[in-house]
Amino acid sequence: MDLRVDLIFIVCLATVLGAQNEVSSFQSLPNPPKANVSQCSLVKDNDRLDCIPRGNVTQDICESRGCCWSESSSGIPACFYQPKSLSYKFKNITETSDGLVAYLERSYKSPYPRDVALIKLIATYQSDDILRFKVIDPTKKRYESIFPEKKLPSPATKNPSYKLIIGKDLQGFRVVRKSDNTTIFDASDLTNFIFSDQFIQITTKLPSTYLYGLGEHKERFKLQSKWTTYTLYSRDTSPLFNTNLYGSHPFYLSMENSTKAHGIFLKNSNAMDIIIQPTPALTFRTIGGILDFFIFLGPSPSEVIKQYQQVIGKPKMPPHWSLGFHLSKFGLKDLNTTKKYIERNLNAGIPVQSIWNDLDYMNNSNDFTYDKKKFNGLPQFVDKLHKEGRKYVILFDPGVSSGEPNGTYPPYDKGVELDIFVKNSTGQILVAQVWNPVSTAYPDFTNPKSHDYWKLMMKSFHDVVPFDGAWLDMNEPSNFLKGSMYGCPESELEDPPYLPRVLEGSLSKKTICMTAKQYAGLQYNLHNLYGISETNVTSNVVSEILGERSLVITRSTFPGSGQYGGHWSGDIGSNWEDLSYSIPQLLDFSLFGIPLMGADICGFFGSATEPLCNRWMQLGAFYPFSRNHNSVGMKEQDPASMGDRVIRSSRKALEIRYTLLPYLYTLFWEAHKNGTTVARPLLVEFPEDRNTYDIDTAFLWGSGLLIVPILEENAISVNAYLPKGIWYDYYTRQPLNSSGEFMDIYADNETIPLFIRGGQVLPTQFYRATTEEVRKADLKIVAALDQNGRAEGLLYWDDGISVDVGRNYTQISFLVEDGDIEINVINNRAEHPPKIFSVEILGIRNFNESNLSSGNLDYVYKKQSQSLLLQNLNIDLTQSTSIKWS
Ligand SMILES: *[C@@H]1O[C@H](CO)[C@@H](O)[C@H](O)[C@H]1NC(C)=O
Ligand SMILES: *[C@@H]1O[C@H](CO)[C@@H](O)[C@H](O)[C@H]1NC(C)=O
Ligand SMILES: *[C@@H]1O[C@H](CO)[C@@H](O)[C@H](O)[C@H]1NC(C)=O
Ligand SMILES: *[C@@H]1O[C@H](CO)[C@@H](O)[C@H](O)[C@H]1NC(C)=O
Ligand SMILES: *[C@@H]1O[C@H](CO)[C@@H](O)[C@H](O)[C@H]1NC(C)=O
Ligand SMILES: *[C@@H]1O[C@H](CO)[C@@H](O)[C@H](O)[C@H]1NC(C)=O
Ligand SMILES: *[C@@H]1O[C@H](CO)[C@@H](O)[C@H](O)[C@H]1NC(C)=O
Ligand SMILES: *[C@@H]1O[C@H](CO)[C@@H](O)[C@H](O)[C@H]1NC(C)=O
Ligand SMILES: *[C@@H]1O[C@H](CO)[C@@H](O)[C@H](O)[C@H]1NC(C)=O
Repeated sequence: MDLRVDLIFIVCLATVLGAQNEVSSFQSLPNPPKANVSQCSLVKDNDRLDCIPRGNVTQDICESRGCCWSESSSGIPACFYQPKSLSYKFKNITETSDGLVAYLERSYKSPYPRDVALIKLIATYQSDDILRFKVIDPTKKRYESIFPEKKLPSPATKNPSYKLIIGKDLQGFRVVRKSDNTTIFDASDLTNFIFSDQFIQITTKLPSTYLYGLGEHKERFKLQSKWTTYTLYSRDTSPLFNTNLYGSHPFYLSMENSTKAHGIFLKNSNAMDIIIQPTPALTFRTIGGILDFFIFLGPSPSEVIKQYQQVIGKPKMPPHWSLGFHLSKFGLKDLNTTKKYIERNLNAGIPVQSIWNDLDYMNNSNDFTYDKKKFNGLPQFVDKLHKEGRKYVILFDPGVSSGEPNGTYPPYDKGVELDIFVKNSTGQILVAQVWNPVSTAYPDFTNPKSHDYWKLMMKSFHDVVPFDGAWLDMNEPSNFLKGSMYGCPESELEDPPYLPRVLEGSLSKKTICMTAKQYAGLQYNLHNLYGISETNVTSNVVSEILGERSLVITRSTFPGSGQYGGHWSGDIGSNWEDLSYSIPQLLDFSLFGIPLMGADICGFFGSATEPLCNRWMQLGAFYPFSRNHNSVGMKEQDPASMGDRVIRSSRKALEIRYTLLPYLYTLFWEAHKNGTTVARPLLVEFPEDRNTYDIDTAFLWGSGLLIVPILEENAISVNAYLPKGIWYDYYTRQPLNSSGEFMDIYADNETIPLFIRGGQVLPTQFYRATTEEVRKADLKIVAALDQNGRAEGLLYWDDGISVDVGRNYTQISFLVEDGDIEINVINNRAEHPPKIFSVEILGIRNFNESNLSSGNLDYVYKKQSQSLLLQNLNIDLTQSTSIKWS
């Protein structure tokens, strides 16, 4: 392909700025020209680009910035940029073998110190569907995010689906989808473009207002575009509206008017604000690093998510047992209480797969210790759990106590010896305080030695208490002091010229100083990466210790965290609002490539009422990561403590979860292999159906199971949207034919509405009370036919724990067509896969037993529900086979 065809060149745009000497990175520049009043008056309110985004907005300041001034109603900036004010001008543009390089020069001073006067834009045609462009300082190396660490393949394009239009009549550039000329990224006017040392800003006009992503936030799935600021700066706080939260994900998915989709990822780990305004337009405003954009052309939302995961890495395959139901509570104050807690739930028939201890188990809240008085017998308790096929997971804080007497606490002494802790600006260990009684030091997980350090600590503790998984809390990193014991020094890193709209108006509030130092650089740049760097090392270390796949659940995340572990949505409230917000949070993390996700079932803070916990246990049974957890001092909310109705509801929903484990596990395999989603937003599965764009009260598991929880108190029905097609009620197996409509679905108090989608085959197993026992049970294949009597599906099977995923596995595909089910063995390397006991086919209108392929098949046909059950099949998964019934 000749790239020339797709580039509109501008040969010589060089403007002479002073002398012709080498331009230094921070050059002094002329003041901006005064705004032209008549040009200003042409700007529509919605199109105003904010010229004083924070601080005192006065006409004087505005005019000194060369901006337009006009009083406005709330939310709309009064001080805004004059269009085409040529902040940067092209110097030259050069084609390269896989993209292009352009140099731009700044025309006048920006309002922020240290403008980078000469910048270099490097566009790389990464693949046919991924365009990358970077903006850097060509004279000085600036910090670039060290995560995600995935190495990209060399650029290779045959027929890019996009073109980059740069120069010519434009004062900037734009990216266009070739097939329909939709502008995906529109920076054709670089009016408000600023690249200074601590303030970098670029705006793109958007082709639609359907935007999703930009986490982590408490927000509906579809983002708002009413001058809404989304701040990305990892922060320990309970989820509130309009604030930054535990993780930072500068990625959005957009649905275009044509129903095609695209995605944008800014690889930058600094604190940033992202503003969406009704133009529609979106501004990225970061306070450091560089601009490193990836543009994903889709054109379907599922392809966008896959393309994104090619860049950030695909999710880790979780251990099979981690898909069971987990029980946890902060405030299980001793081993007796912990035992009582799990036992009463087992006695009530709740299939608890693992019990989790919060801080309580520790001695003085110190990592790698346990309270030998209150938790006397803990190792034996864990051994007993293991014998029963259950697991034990514990909390780790990243910070270790720095206040123990010398020689008594190896995690600190060894850390000092290996020089592993984060330093303050004067080069001593930064001392802060988290849960530890005296003080806390933070391991630096960007230090290559941290692996051996963390492994030594984890291993010596595991030798005593053989835990099965690590739950990583407080890793924003959180700090109960502001900055450190000694505060933070005065610095433009602590108080940058532009402060993103972070909670409590301070970067060091509830965390460590921005001037702190890690191996990989300044905390100012690395803050958002603390969680991912800890999760990375922990995931490796725990696998090595167990010799198995590890389960790691982390509070703070960043693009790529899914490769190392899962996430829970933190300290949400025990209320109906947070019950319903748990779905958009779950779906956001599906977009972010972190499918192992769930909220604390029944909420963390506050006392859950019986009706709330009843409905929440039903929904939580369908979180990919399903855990009931609550805070210390709150009313107990484990199912057994909530009374008979919650027990019955929980059992019913969890039994369905356990039966569907083969399906769920297969979905995780597909996500791990191909970057698909597990908990899936409706719009990802039905992008051509615009009704799905606003839906975040229901979701799918893969393509085949629709989950419609009850989210309102006292409700016994829900107005559910069923996309076009046949849907089978999970409980009655009755088909519902939808033309793409909302329907009132009845749901008694003990039932969560579930629908199997026509056209899908779901592999299931017979219910048992632990995942280990389920694995030994027989399979039952459920085939739900579509209008044409067709259905297909997949089963992935392995030992559930091997680190070497995808080596010894069995993969089966199912195809139902013309009254026949084909069971095809695609791969046959797992040891002892289960047998298929039965096949259930839903949607057989007419059945004639004489058509059965074999005369002695054991079957039951139910005319009313139009379902056929073939049983006693005993099909071995080592050979392909088929069964015919018509
Ligand atoms: C805003 O103006 C007030 C009063 O003039 C002044 O005290 C304050 O320092 C100004 N704030 C900023 C951020 O410039
Ligand atoms: C473009 O301009 C930059 C900055 O002046 C210069 O270093 C580079 O050599 C120029 N490239 C070409 C192809 O002229
Ligand atoms: C896109 O625009 C180009 C140039 O304006 C035009 O030649 C082409 O036909 C358009 N393509 C489509 C699919 O509209
Ligand atoms: C998309 O649709 C909206 C609403 O109909 C319309 O205002 C907008 O101009 C359309 N955008 C594009 C790029 O066609
Ligand atoms: C736990 O229970 C046992 C047996 O009932 C009792 O002997 C022991 O003192 C209890 N331990 C604590 C810490 O309460
Ligand atoms: C602890 O004591 C040892 C031996 O006296 C000494 O070498 C080391 O520096 C001390 N460590 C700290 C953290 O004070
Ligand atoms: C760094 O920590 C040491 C103590 O560990 C303290 O004496 C020093 O003041 C701290 N420096 C800063 C800038 O806070
Ligand atoms: C992830 O952790 C491993 C050690 O467990 C280390 O080698 C690797 O460099 C880490 N990645 C990053 C980007 O820090
Ligand atoms: C992954 O995608 C490829 C290409 O679409 C497909 O052939 C393969 O079956 C998929 N694998 C899984 C496990 O879904």
